Amino acid sequence: MLKTISDGDFQRLAKFIQSQYGINLTQKRQLVTSRLSGMVTEWGYDGFEPFVKQLLQERDPNKLELVLNKLTTNYTFFMRETEHFQFFEKTVLPELIRKHQRDKVLAIWSAGCSSGEEPYNISMYIKDFLGPQADKWDTRVLATDISQRVLATAKKGVYDLPDTVPDSWKKKYFTPAGGSRYAVAPVIRNNVIFQTFNLMDPIKFRLKFDVIFCRNVMIYFDQPTKDALVRRFYDASQPGGYLMIGHSENLSKDTPYRTVAPSTFQKR
Ligand SMILES: C[S@@+](CC[C@H](N)C(=O)[O-])C[C@H]1O[C@@H](n2cnc3c(N)ncnc32)[C@H](O)[C@@H]1O
Repeated sequence: MLKTISDGDFQRLAKFIQSQYGINLTQKRQLVTSRLSGMVTEWGYDGFEPFVKQLLQERDPNKLELVLNKLTTNYTFFMRETEHFQFFEKTVLPELIRKHQRDKVLAIWSAGCSSGEEPYNISMYIKDFLGPQADKWDTRVLATDISQRVLATAKKGVYDLPDTVPDSWKKKYFTPAGGSRYAVAPVIRNNVIFQTFNLMDPIKFRLKFDVIFCRNVMIYFDQPTKDALVRRFYDASQPGGYLMIGHSENLSKDTPYRTVAPSTFQKR
């Protein structure tokens, strides 16, 4: 049954979630009550007031993650927004292979990777592009998300595949895992490094990135949070580095990036 949340509790909760995770709930009161009411009861509270109070006092990361999982969506699938992958294959990869002829290291980040389809997909494009040369390159894809739950699924790498995954890839990059399930083959699995990372935190990875995929993640963030994150992505990228965001998303007009294709940007 739906529970009601007071103005004060709603604002406290929304402010906390925004400050910690960037997720903007201010216009989402109904979503908050509908998605969290069940949890309030399951956890033995008789209403939102003690629930919010304890959640914000304890700041138990496990509980916070369960709350966050209810409030965000982890929806993702193989071959999503394929235009990005086509641009990646036709334009970005040839350029990076030329650029990194000496060091043979590509630095690619799937930021907000959810259950892993996106970084595995990126890896498949890379392996396909490099063919027999792939072994000479370090093409490991960094894949991060805030949710341990989706990362656990990602690491297992077992999926129901949509028809849009080419049959040749099903044979090459997956092994049957029973029924309609397929397991990502080791050559692809071992090419993705999964890590927990909150996109609100400073970006301190060792390498500067050639490409950052951050698709369908910033939809939850308000403009200042998004702008600040895009600035951190910019600083964490190599000159000429790319940023790909979801097709329904936009960057601010005053972004330092230049637009090179739909929802695809390049550091100047
Ligand atoms: C809809 S999925 C997008 C998956 C994939 N990039 C795609 O486009 O299919 C959004 C992901 O962003 C993650 N996310 C939301 N807020 C985040 C934050 N502050 N830091 C890191 N990941 C976050 C969620 O956990 C979720 O898995």
